Amino acid sequence: MNDEKRTGQELYNRAKELIPGGTQLLSKRPEMFLPDRWPSYYTRANGCEVTDLDGNTYKDFSIMGVGACILGYADPDVTEAVVRVVQDGNMSTLNAPEEVELAELLLELHPWAEKVRYARSGGEAMAIAVRLARAASGKDLVLFSGYHGWSDWYLAANISDDAALDGHLLSGLEPAGVPRALKETAIPFPFNDDEAFRALMDRYGDRVGAVVLEPIRNDPPKDSFRALIHETVRRRGIPLVVDEITAGFRLNVGGAHLVVGWQPDIAVFAKGMSNGHPMAAVIGTSATMDLAQSSFISSTYWTDRTGPTAALTTIRKMREIDAPHHLEQIGRMVQEGWVAAGAEHGLSVHAGGMYPLSHFDVDGESPLAIRTAFTQAMLDRGYLANRSLYVSLAHTEELVREYLGACDAVFAELAPYINEGRIGAYLKGKPIHSGFQRLN
Ligand SMILES: Cc1ncc(COP(=O)(O)O)c(C=O)c1O
Repeated sequence: MNDEKRTGQELYNRAKELIPGGTQLLSKRPEMFLPDRWPSYYTRANGCEVTDLDGNTYKDFSIMGVGACILGYADPDVTEAVVRVVQDGNMSTLNAPEEVELAELLLELHPWAEKVRYARSGGEAMAIAVRLARAASGKDLVLFSGYHGWSDWYLAANISDDAALDGHLLSGLEPAGVPRALKETAIPFPFNDDEAFRALMDRYGDRVGAVVLEPIRNDPPKDSFRALIHETVRRRGIPLVVDEITAGFRLNVGGAHLVVGWQPDIAVFAKGMSNGHPMAAVIGTSATMDLAQSSFISSTYWTDRTGPTAALTTIRKMREIDAPHHLEQIGRMVQEGWVAAGAEHGLSVHAGGMYPLSHFDVDGESPLAIRTAFTQAMLDRGYLANRSLYVSLAHTEELVREYLGACDAVFAELAPYINEGRIGAYLKGKPIHSGFQRLN
């Protein structure tokens, strides 16, 4: 790569003067990858290749648009379908027929569900789901586990206790601007912790109007945890909302709840379903979904035609080629490769996550500096890489072998610094930021 020109970084510095936070998504902030040195902006993305503003092309072995592109960037079939509806008019006074076709497909994949609504991003689809669940139960309090977006209903959890969201994927999320009146309307519980859930139900049971969780994050649900939650929500008539925004369409073509055994009243899909084109869907039983008629849930761009078209094409293609099988195979190969490459050079590398969403850590002092050093060394070798890999169809076995070769060389280079506790000396800049703090 051209290490002298930093056009992307210069643009990012300007962006921070104009756009608070620099970007619209916490996970895309350059400070999360390689402060002051990250390419930051792209001109072209195709397969798993990304070209920056200085003409450098990298292989993306990191978060792949934060998991939005299971088929790889700019998938030709999805692009062709979307371009066609753009040319034919993606907006009109009349509605897009693809909405109905997609509803049929989603209900075919999820036979328990009876109705569908659409939005265009995960956070807003979750807000719809929580509104419907509260409407169905007639109660306000949401017990949740995991990350569910930026909405008031979710950040309300941090009003009562600043640390409440720690451990729920993103800690340190500030609830400034969220009405204080929402205090104690959303309370988190740790995934797979039967006791914690039971204790919350003992304390708040009569007030609970929704239970919201991700079907699986790192580990699948324990049988006892799933049974406890199912028994509790059924007995008390509490809607169960499963957030498939990250997990969906990776273990199977559809919701991961079908694989790991949740029986929700509502399930929510977004970024896995439409290969990078904005789309989100809320599916559920008629008893919950029909309340969309009694609560005002409506938005102009939820009627755009590219979203359902992209989703239809993406889902059909994922089904045709059994994309989840590829994601699992590649994820397994990478997790095993990380650990083996580490061992080769005397590093203790721990890999984890469900295979399509793999990640690793290296034992040693200054974990953030170690992660930064990995990204720095991989960037020098032509990779966008960090501790996470969102596997896509574009990650072929051949590319993975090359990538693991690069990891091996990088671990060899970093090992003396890590083992001697002086990784800071390897870095050309500052270490990455770990959370929401210090990002401006
Ligand atoms: C489980 C889960 N829920 C909700 C969201 C929010 O979705 P979006 O970023 O599309 O608003 C995300 C995004 O990462 C997610 O992983």
